[in-house]
Amino acid sequence: MTVQILKATIAHARGIARVYVDAWRATYAGLLPARALTGMSHDRQTVEWAHQIRHKGLHCPILVAFDDRAGVVGMTSFGKSRIEDRPASAPFLAGNPDFGSGEIFTLYVHPDHQDRGIGRRLMGAAFAGLRERGLSKAYVWVLDSNPARYFYERMGGRYIADRDEELWGVPVSQAAYGWPDLVAAQSRLGLVRQSRIG
Ligand SMILES: CC(C)(COP(=O)(O)OP(=O)(O)OC[C@H]1O[C@@H](n2cnc3c(N)ncnc32)[C@H](O)[C@@H]1OP(=O)(O)O)[C@@H](O)C(=O)NCCC(=O)NCCS
Repeated sequence: MTVQILKATIAHARGIARVYVDAWRATYAGLLPARALTGMSHDRQTVEWAHQIRHKGLHCPILVAFDDRAGVVGMTSFGKSRIEDRPASAPFLAGNPDFGSGEIFTLYVHPDHQDRGIGRRLMGAAFAGLRERGLSKAYVWVLDSNPARYFYERMGGRYIADRDEELWGVPVSQAAYGWPDLVAAQSRLGLVRQSRIG
């Protein structure tokens, strides 16, 4: 099985939607209100991701991990920090100039394909994509209670802040992990991999 990291095209929209919905349901059951998960559908997410690819791809690139047999098995999107649609980030960015500028918006690996190094590859590709856009540092928000926060620690992220945001009518605690130097972060990802092989 060969997994390639590719720039998302419209042809990937359904595969992205499958990864997104299945990963949300597997990860967030018990952490987010049930209606947020039961209200999701592969069809609606396909339309949403097709829209994102068509209209936002330039400013918010989307990459997929594409398995030659299983199709899309992971995805990530990233770009310049979004403050306008997430005002809860504004005080965080003002207080953390070392981390603001680039943001990982989404990173999901399908539950059937986790723990195969795909998340690490997507992270490395997102860091490279951010650097191509002139962004030298980055952060990601993760649910406080999501075990994925330890993945970000493994990827060299530094725990830098918390915020509470109202989502689906309930307060949701989130933690931010940051990388103040994406060049160093990328080389660290390579070193971790080498030490694993060795
Ligand atoms: C978090 C996620 C992206 C990681 O992707 P993955 O492909 O499973 O991870 P990888 O196989 O690339 O793991 C890379 C390293 O991180 C470690 N790791 C992965 N998940 C981890 C976790 N939850 N806690 C601690 N370490 C973790 C792996 O053991 C591996 O370690 P190594 O360097 O010793 O090899 C994936 O599990 C996922 O999509 N989870 C559900 C959705 C989610 O929560 N996304 C984040 C939203 S903010």
